[in-house]
Parts: sequence; C-alpha cells; structure tokens
Amino acid sequence: MNYEMSSAAQTEARSASVEDDVRVHWQGVAGRRSFLKGLGLAGAAVLPGSALFASEAMAKSSSSITKGDVAILRLLAAAELIEADLWQQYDELGGVNGGNPAYMAALTNIDSDMPTYIHLNNEDEQSHAAFLNAYLESKGAEPVNLDAFRTLPSSKANGARQIGRLTSLTSLDVDTSWYTRYRSSTNADFGAKFPQAFEIHNQPAIPINDTDTPPNTTAPLPPTTPAERRIQAIACTAAFHFGYIEQGGSSLYATLAEKVTNLEVLRIVTSIGGAEAMHFSTWQDDAGNAANAPIAPVTDPLTGLTIPNLDAHPDEQLFQANLIFPHPCEFISSKLPHCAVVRPTLDRNGGAQAAIKSFTADRLFEGQSSRFFTTVMKLAEQADAAQRRVS
Ligand SMILES: [Fe+2]
Ligand SMILES: [Fe+2]
Repeated sequence: MNYEMSSAAQTEARSASVEDDVRVHWQGVAGRRSFLKGLGLAGAAVLPGSALFASEAMAKSSSSITKGDVAILRLLAAAELIEADLWQQYDELGGVNGGNPAYMAALTNIDSDMPTYIHLNNEDEQSHAAFLNAYLESKGAEPVNLDAFRTLPSSKANGARQIGRLTSLTSLDVDTSWYTRYRSSTNADFGAKFPQAFEIHNQPAIPINDTDTPPNTTAPLPPTTPAERRIQAIACTAAFHFGYIEQGGSSLYATLAEKVTNLEVLRIVTSIGGAEAMHFSTWQDDAGNAANAPIAPVTDPLTGLTIPNLDAHPDEQLFQANLIFPHPCEFISSKLPHCAVVRPTLDRNGGAQAAIKSFTADRLFEGQSSRFFTTVMKLAEQADAAQRRVS
C-alpha cells in the first residue's frame, strides 16, 4: 500500500473529506425528513414521543437490503470464514482445551489467560461467520462457502486435527507496524507510514511438528535451551499475529460501515466490528507482554528471528509495551483535535481489497490456488464498490 501523498494532495483530500462528511450528514437528515413526509408525518417535532419511536422502529426494521449491502456482508462472511479457519488452528494447539502442552505453556508465559482467550476468540469468529451467512440467507441472498479451498495442510504437531485448511500459519511474514501505528499521533489515512515494531519473516506462529515441542511441558522463564527458545519464539510470533489479524478486522468493519445503506445491516457491521476491536485490544496487551522481559529478548535458533524487548527501545512513545489503547491521532481533518480511534478507515488503507492484499502479504494464503485469490478478490472488489444510498 502506498501511503505517499503530496502535501497539496493531502490538503485537497482533507477539505474534500470534511465536505463529504457534511454532505453525508445532511443527506442523512434529509433522508429522514423525506421518510417522515412520505408517511404524512412531516414536522417530526410535533409528533408525540410514542409515534416518533414507532416511525423509527419501522425504519429500522425495513427488510430492504441493497445490492451493496449484500456485497459488504458477503465479503465480511468470507473474511470471517478465513478468520475462523486460522483461529481454529490456534485453538486446536494452544486453546484452553488444546492438545499441545508445550505450545500452551509458552503461550501461558505471555499471559496465563492466553489459552482461554484463544479459545474464546475462535468461538467468536465461528459465530461471526455462521451469523453473517445465516443473515444473508434470511434475506434471500447467497451465503459464502469457501469449503472447496480447504486444501492446505495442517500442522503435524500433537493436537492439530489432520484436515484441510484455508490458511497457513507456518511461514508468516507478520506486518507489525500496527503496533507503532496505534501508538502514533499520525494516521495512515493522512499518508503517514509506520515502522515495524520488529521484523517477522518466514516464521511459524504454531508448532510445525513435534520436533518444535520440547518434551517438558513447562516452558521455563527465561527460555534457555534451543528447544525452549524455539517454542517461545513461535508463541511470541502468534501474539503479534493475533494483534495483526484483529486490528485488520477492526479497520475493515469500520471502513465498510461507511458504505452501508440499510440500518439493520449497519447495526450488524458496527456491532461485529466492535467485537473485533475488543479482540484487538486484548492482543495488543499480550503482544506487549510477548516482546518484554522476562521473555524477550529471545531468538529462534532455527529461523534466527529475535523477539526484542520493546520496552528497551529509546522511542518510548512508539514502542512502550503498556501503551495499549489507541493514542489520539489526526482524524477527518487536520484542523480538528486529535482523537483516539480505530484507524485506518479509508478504502485504500482499510478497505476490503486492502485487507485481502495485506493477508496475502502476510503469507496467510501460502499454497492457495489462483482460483481462491480470484474468488476472494472479486468479493472484495464488490464490497469496496458498494455505495451508501440515502434518498
Ligand atoms: Fe470476526
Ligand atoms: Fe476477529
């Protein structure tokens, strides 16, 4: 993604953005007035309270759903099936009911509740995927089925079911710039770029096989033997991957919400989007633990990946581990005060195509067929093309 913009282009984009905001708000007001007028209720101020609530309830329960809304929901269903697939793999190995004690012990070094959180996050993603597809069906729209692409191999480590997967977690390039982005007062939607917290390339986030899992089931702190350092580095990579996935989901939902027309669909998108942000917030905290004493620094003896102690970084603002809430940043207009928000939320940075491209760069789809990319990118293009219709 290219974040470079000239200052003139930035200024133009900012003023256009403010104008757009005012226009959209006005259209919302005008749309509500014309709706009331259509019911013979023009002059809402004279309505008794109960009639006003009744008219709003009618608006909210409207069963009309636009082509754009369907496209948004279908892309989100695909994204949730992808999320559900990867979280299922994490849950099988490292969840509270998981089957890989060495991996679970290394995760527990990061946060004693981490296996529980992994299990609950997986449950949430399964619920998101099932709900979105069921809702689409309830509106007569086609649900999304990616079963034909469940072709990637499972981990061979103890605990993993031997079934086909949509995603691969064994050779990830994890973009860790979300860590500094959320600690910065600048915003990618204004052209800002952010440094990686540290580099993660070609690194597993789950044990690949039982060679990766030392025979003892307690991972000592600090990890010392090569086997202990290997499984701890894998668990720490997972912690940063969790944050990466969930910040992406948070931006995706916030970005697509701007295009939704139907109020019920807007309720769905903002409500699931809020859950994604809650996931992100938790993993933001655990990523800070993973790249901190007494675990870090730790180096994977096989891949050479080093998880640094980020609290030792001289730039405290961008790297300090416990700054886990979104730092106020520029938002909507540079003339407005900074605001603590989910970001980015413009198409080019946080939209559906940007999300799928980012997942691809993450090597989450390593080994997938070209038909998979075509299918998912088509859904993403249709979602990005959706337009809010307020008449
Ligand atoms: Fe989700
Ligand atoms: Fe999620």
